[in-house]
Amino acid sequence: MMTEQLKNYTITPEQASCPHYVKALQQEIECGKDFSETELKVLRINHPEILKYKAKVLGNKDTYENFADWVDFLIADYGYQERCLSLGSGIGRVEKYLVSKGFTHQMETIELCANENEKIRLKDEKINTVKGDLNFVELPPDYYDFILCHGVLHHLINLEYVLDQINKSLKPNGIFLVYEYIGETRWQFNESRLNYLRKNFPDISIKQQPVWRYRGFESVRSGDLFGILQQQFGKSCKHSVCYGGVYFPFVTTTPPKADAQMARVITLDADVTRTGELSPCYHMGIYRKNDVPAIPAKKWSDEMLKSQLSPPIPYWNQLVRLLRESPLGSSLIKIKRQLNRYF
Ligand SMILES: C[S@@+](CC[C@H](N)C(=O)[O-])C[C@H]1O[C@@H](n2cnc3c(N)ncnc32)[C@H](O)[C@@H]1O
Repeated sequence: MMTEQLKNYTITPEQASCPHYVKALQQEIECGKDFSETELKVLRINHPEILKYKAKVLGNKDTYENFADWVDFLIADYGYQERCLSLGSGIGRVEKYLVSKGFTHQMETIELCANENEKIRLKDEKINTVKGDLNFVELPPDYYDFILCHGVLHHLINLEYVLDQINKSLKPNGIFLVYEYIGETRWQFNESRLNYLRKNFPDISIKQQPVWRYRGFESVRSGDLFGILQQQFGKSCKHSVCYGGVYFPFVTTTPPKADAQMARVITLDADVTRTGELSPCYHMGIYRKNDVPAIPAKKWSDEMLKSQLSPPIPYWNQLVRLLRESPLGSSLIKIKRQLNRYF
């Protein structure tokens, strides 16, 4: 039996009991329990122009009716799957769609917020959700026909370990569908990306948010993700799409009113995707189980863990954060999020 210390972890379970990790887990949960379907719809990242573009790029569709209907090609090409698992399923938008289309008759999901998001989760008796921290997940070997990671790997630290678990847990010929943010870690966009935005949108303020703004595990190793994914699964890749090098930094560095420019943003995104002028921020891939051994993880020291999860915050901003986290502050933020959609 392999001891915990010898497993291919970036951080060990002992390190995960430190206050920085525990705080980040709590922040993830706080965030996850707030994002109902209605709240998600008003996020800038779900702007109709972006969803239309996504439907085209990922699903070769001219329009979309459902957030998740770009997966129709998967259902058509790969057909019914018996044993399905989704990791970090949130409220289950993609899972519910897959089940409703007869892709499977049952789906297991593992989600950090399983208890806390119970009320807002999209219900389906064919979907069974359990709570778990995926950084230390143990999956049964040779068990699943299909595993889905939709926007969760970029929240994980033990990437090498989790991807190996996924690979081992697939049945021979099992399918792994990934849809992930693969841009700069903690959204710290590189200068060429920011300069591209400044050049193309000279009248819009482009403001990179400092690293301490990002809470929980948001994009904690996203800059490493695509490389590790290719090392573990590249050999068995069946389908791969990369895009999003412009629209994602645009919606995260500009004020909401800049969304008036979204049609142009999407045109530029398609341009740079074609020319390769900027690296992509999103990846969708379909992979099969393979015989590639686990990619060795580089261990994080306790100092590294602290600096990644709790970077120093200027005093003034600490005060602002305290106010934002008060009950009144949280309510005002929710109202502001709704208003941002219209102004
Ligand atoms: C960006 S959301 C994506 C949710 C969902 N897949 C979707 O696309 O709507 C990331 C999800 O991963 C979950 N998550 C983050 N870290 C996790 C962890 N260590 N273990 C399990 N789930 C985690 C969060 O609770 C959240 O639901």
